[in-house]
Amino acid sequence: MTNAAITGWGACMPPAVLTNADLSTFLDTNDEWITSRTGMSERRISHVSAQELGAVSAARAIACAGLDVQDVDLIMYGGCSNEEVVPNSASGVQLLLGATKAASVDINTACTSFLYGLASASAMIQSGMSKVAVVVGVELISRYMDWSNRNVAVLFGDGAAAVVLQASDEPGGVIGTSLGCDAEARDTLRVRGMGAGYTGFGVTYGDMIWDFDGPNIFKRAVRGMAEASDKVMREAGVTADDIDLCIPHQANLRILESVAKHAGIPMEKVIVTVQKYGNMSAATVPVALVEALEQGRVKPGSLMLMPGFGGGLTYCSLLVRWGQRVTPLGTSDRELRPATKTALEMVNEIRSKQDPHGRSREGLMAPVFSDSKVGAA
Ligand code: UT7
Repeated sequence: MTNAAITGWGACMPPAVLTNADLSTFLDTNDEWITSRTGMSERRISHVSAQELGAVSAARAIACAGLDVQDVDLIMYGGCSNEEVVPNSASGVQLLLGATKAASVDINTACTSFLYGLASASAMIQSGMSKVAVVVGVELISRYMDWSNRNVAVLFGDGAAAVVLQASDEPGGVIGTSLGCDAEARDTLRVRGMGAGYTGFGVTYGDMIWDFDGPNIFKRAVRGMAEASDKVMREAGVTADDIDLCIPHQANLRILESVAKHAGIPMEKVIVTVQKYGNMSAATVPVALVEALEQGRVKPGSLMLMPGFGGGLTYCSLLVRWGQRVTPLGTSDRELRPATKTALEMVNEIRSKQDPHGRSREGLMAPVFSDSKVGAA
């Protein structure tokens, strides 16, 4: 059987750092609350587009695999930060890369988009539809954050990372997937203002309001990731003791600890980046994977568990068996242009454009949601 080996990896983190102290200059919050409830100390704010972050991370992953951009036949853009919907974002990454022989696909399952993309691209390689795929996990949440809402504004950050998958006869790659969706809870996480349902109803794109029921998401996230992890390990015939590394979606340190406890995996085996990058949605798992590789924590043949959850509420857990190579074959000279503003300056600029007329926070609901239940009998 053809397998989909992960042969390249690369991250692209925007350099500007937004600290908890920065957030407390404009929100009623403080470092003690944020660190004790979430484990987060800082996050990044991007000065470039999501497509640029994605393209630089992809270029680095392709060089790491020792390949040329022309070898790539599939680009999968995992994320919910799309500068535009038509044209799609993957085509923008393709253009920036110059990967003219690739098909380009966006996949949006919110925070699980990278993991769903990794599962999908692996299946496409296993079926013979693709030979060399790049899966990008990328988010530019700062542009659609509601910076007046402390419930969400302290939690998220920007970033990107990518992996290259190649058809291989060697065993390994994604060896198990468990994907699911707790759709009854889809109302617990919604960004009002994003999407065609709002168009023409007086909502300016960028004037976002987040519905976010944190405690409910927390409970369902732990349950979804724990069940998916149990299932994927059971089906693969492995136990928690066999797992060398757990690389979970990074939404909250307390969620990571609960998932690890449920799965019976000690925290020493869990990769944690939430303290320095916050929740980067689709980018958290690939960025944590790249860091684990750079820190030498991934060994030849390592078995990894990758649980995730996100809006929808989608959830999943993937089992990945690493190959023999844990070092890059090459490096890319692609760099982001330098940032000329601090993270706080960029956020203040977004804030100043977000609410110029003191918008009403009541009743902003697209008619498509308020007067119809899609698919209701
Ligand atoms: O990746 C997918 C998206 N991620 C998630 O959905 C994360 C899931 N949820 C969580 O991580 C946690 O529920 C949160 C971190 C969001 C919140 O933690 P919590 O322990 O569940 O707190 P809470 O929402 O129950 O709020 C506790 C208190 C409230 O005050 P009262 O009602 O007790 O007076 C909040 O108003 O903390 C208050 N609060 C804050 N205080 C200071 C909420 N946000 C803040 C803040 N700073 N930023």
